[in-house]
Amino acid sequence: MTTRYRVEYALKTHRRDQLIEWIKGLLAVPFVLHSQPTAVFEPHRETMEQMSMNAQRRYGEIMRDIEELINDHIAHQKAGTHDRSKLKLLVPSVATFFTPLLLHDAFVWQDQRRFISYRRFVPPSFNDIRLILNTAQVMSLVRGGPLELVTFDGDVTLYDDGQSLTVDNVVIPRILGLMRKGTRIGIVTAAGYTEGRRYYERLHGLLDALHASDLPVSLKQNLVVVGGESNYCFKFAEESPDLLKLVPRKEWLLDEMLLWQESDITELLDVAETALRDCINYMRLSADILRKERAVGIIPQSGTKFPRESLEETVLVTQKILEMSTVGRRLPFCAFNGGNDVFVDIGDKSWGVLACQRFFGGIEGGKTLHVGDQFLSAGANDFKARLACTTAWIANPAETVQLLDEIAELDEMQQRKTR
Ligand code: IMP
Ligand code: MG
Repeated sequence: MTTRYRVEYALKTHRRDQLIEWIKGLLAVPFVLHSQPTAVFEPHRETMEQMSMNAQRRYGEIMRDIEELINDHIAHQKAGTHDRSKLKLLVPSVATFFTPLLLHDAFVWQDQRRFISYRRFVPPSFNDIRLILNTAQVMSLVRGGPLELVTFDGDVTLYDDGQSLTVDNVVIPRILGLMRKGTRIGIVTAAGYTEGRRYYERLHGLLDALHASDLPVSLKQNLVVVGGESNYCFKFAEESPDLLKLVPRKEWLLDEMLLWQESDITELLDVAETALRDCINYMRLSADILRKERAVGIIPQSGTKFPRESLEETVLVTQKILEMSTVGRRLPFCAFNGGNDVFVDIGDKSWGVLACQRFFGGIEGGKTLHVGDQFLSAGANDFKARLACTTAWIANPAETVQLLDEIAELDEMQQRKTR
């Protein structure tokens, strides 16, 4: 492998989202042509209002064009020729779209909040586009409503990394608000525990609030926790001391998951453990191996903060070794960087979301939204949820709250329109 290949391919493509980078490139053109950086020292050339109106119109036109390309891609998906769409040629990594994306309207919405078209020195950024895509997705879900299922990742999405969902978390009333409208909720987390008590410890703020709420029992039952990506399923149960009850695997496993052999699971975890041990040794990491029934990981010895590069190296090495192994081709797995740990889990979040959809009676991908923070193509565990449903990519728990407020506001507007 040449150095250039390693730098350009192995180390960069997994750290970029091709669709977002492509949109960023398209928006850079009107930014260059319409922004007025010289106005800083030539104040009378063009007013800010004129400049921003021009820029906004051009940005908006581009977003509408992309919207059309996505509609064309969806038409190809329906005809079974998605690999021949124009969008696929332009952005080879695009996969399935479960709904159209209202990109023009979403751009206007975010521009009113982020003043993108007023900026003269900073072009539309990765984060601007990520947030526009999230808004476009929820606009489409709300207009096509009702939104039947929302699944949430845990760490970084609902609470800070390694923390718990405590009673003061402002996301709680928003989740209860969704449940009041009949939306089902799944917490789909990598955290893999076999006992409800451990999930209660991590999620007690939400579970206690649901218990104490005046929601009818039928709606309270619309919450499940799927742990270890797709290995354990618990449902809300008021009669249980930890408010959760293990759901037997036969009630939620998908047919394909029944084919996963115990011997393969052990073999895959053995291969992963050896790879992780190698990484610990050659990078002299102060790490312990944690082997579980359905996962293996490295966790820091007390007080250690691993360098980001070591975590990424460990994920990429382990993933490559598993991909090349015969058992890695038989069994789905997920290797990811958890911020200060690396885990390999059996299965992945696509199975976790599919399990929630099945548990609630067969909800479609176009009526489901998964909210998560890890959407890079390697070393990230929410990425796979894109195979099962629509997604929103948030960067911290405050953005999750903002997104839920956006859904509520859009829903309110939609209700007013149909009244
Ligand atoms: P998520 O963001 O909710 O998917 O949680 C990811 C975090 O859960 C990881 O970074 C780990 O710190 C923690 N964790 C605990 N047990 C497991 C496990 O069995 N597999 C993967 N992650 C685990
Ligand atoms: Mg997370």
